[in-house]
Amino acid sequence: MIILGIESSCDETSAAVVEDGKRLLSNVVNSQVDIHAEYGGVVPEVAARSHIEVINPVIRQAMREANVSWNDIDAIAVAYAPGLIGSLLVGVLAARTLAELHNKPLYPVHHVEGHIYANFITDSTTPDLALPSKQPTFPMLALAVSGLHSQLVLFENHGDYRLLGETLDDAVGEAFDKVARMLGLPYPGGPAITAAAMNGNPHAYTLPKAKLSSPYEFSFSGLKTAVLRSIQREVGVDHTFPSHELPARLNDVQRADFAASFQYTAVKTLVDATKTAVEEFAPASVVIAGGVAANSELRRQLSNQLPQPIEYAPISLCTDNGAMIAALGYYHAQVVKPTPVDEVTVRPSLSMLDTVWNQ
Ligand code: KG4
Ligand code: ZN
Repeated sequence: MIILGIESSCDETSAAVVEDGKRLLSNVVNSQVDIHAEYGGVVPEVAARSHIEVINPVIRQAMREANVSWNDIDAIAVAYAPGLIGSLLVGVLAARTLAELHNKPLYPVHHVEGHIYANFITDSTTPDLALPSKQPTFPMLALAVSGLHSQLVLFENHGDYRLLGETLDDAVGEAFDKVARMLGLPYPGGPAITAAAMNGNPHAYTLPKAKLSSPYEFSFSGLKTAVLRSIQREVGVDHTFPSHELPARLNDVQRADFAASFQYTAVKTLVDATKTAVEEFAPASVVIAGGVAANSELRRQLSNQLPQPIEYAPISLCTDNGAMIAALGYYHAQVVKPTPVDEVTVRPSLSMLDTVWNQ
C-alpha cells in the first residue's frame, strides 16, 4: 500500500511517499527556518503564507522523486492535529482537495503519533540514509520530545497506548529555544545549543532538576528560570536587568558552559524518566521521537543508561516531515475506515489520546 503523507503543522511544509508503512520512496521538506530565524521564533501568519506558496510544488516533487503517479497512490494521510491553525489548514485543505479529485481514501493523523511512527521506517530507496535495522516491537516505550511536547507513552500495540506522563509546563524543545535566546544563540535553539555545548563543560553550572510527584512527569520552566538566574549571577546583575542585554555580557567560554550545563540537565531529566519506565514496564523496544530526538547528548546518555540497545531514526525523520505521517497513515489504514473528506478538519490542540485511532 503506497501512501502520500502531508505535513504542515508548524514551520515545515513536507510531503512524502511511503510504502507499507516502512519503505521510504521520497521525503521532501521545505523548511521555513531561515524566514523565522529573523524573528527569533515562528510567526504564525508568515508560516501559513509560506505553506500556501510551496505546498503544491512540494507534493509534486515528492511524487516525482518517488516515481509514482496518482494511479499508484492508494491513500493520503495528513497531519490534522496539533499545531498552528493556519499552518494545519493548508495541509488539510490540500489533502482534502487531492483526495476528492483523485478519489483516494483520506486518513487524518496526529502529528506527535507521527513522530513516533518515524521509527517504523526501516527501508529506503535512498541508500545513504542510516535507518534502524528493524521495526520496533511491542510493548514499545516512546519518548516524544518536540517544540510542543514532552511525553512518555507506552504502546501495547498499534493504536493501543497510554500516556505515562508529560510536561506540566514547557516542552523540552521550547526550553532549548528559550535558553538559546538567553545565550544569544539563533533559532531553532536545539541545534544551536548542541553546537555551542561542544566546547563547554556540562558540569560548570549546577542546575536543579524539578522534583515532581510522578517519575514520568517533567517540568522545564523551572530549569529555564534557573539558567536565567545563573546567568544573571555570573555576569553580576540582578533580575531587573533587561534579559535581551544578557547575551552581550557573556564571553564564549561562559556561553558554551551554560549551553552544555543546560543541555546535560535537560537531557538527564528525560533519560532518568525513560530509564525508570524501562525498569517498571520492561518494554520490548524503546524509541525516541520529535525534533529533540535529534539531540546527540540525548542519544549518548540513553545508549549509556538503558540496559537494552536502542536504535535511532535519522535526523531528517526526527524533525517535522511527511514520511512519518505517511508511515502512520498505513497503520491507521489497517484498523480504521478512512474519514469522509468533508469531515476532515483541523484540531490545533487535540491530545494524542483523543485521535480517531483511539476511539
Ligand atoms: O518536532 P519538531 O521539528 O517540531 C515540533 O513539532 O515542535 O521539533 C522542533 C523542536 C525545536 O524546539 C528545536 O529546538 C528542537 O526540536 N530541536 C532540537 C534539536 N533539533 C531540533 N533540540 C535539541 N537538540 C537538537 N539537535
Ligand atoms: Zn513535530
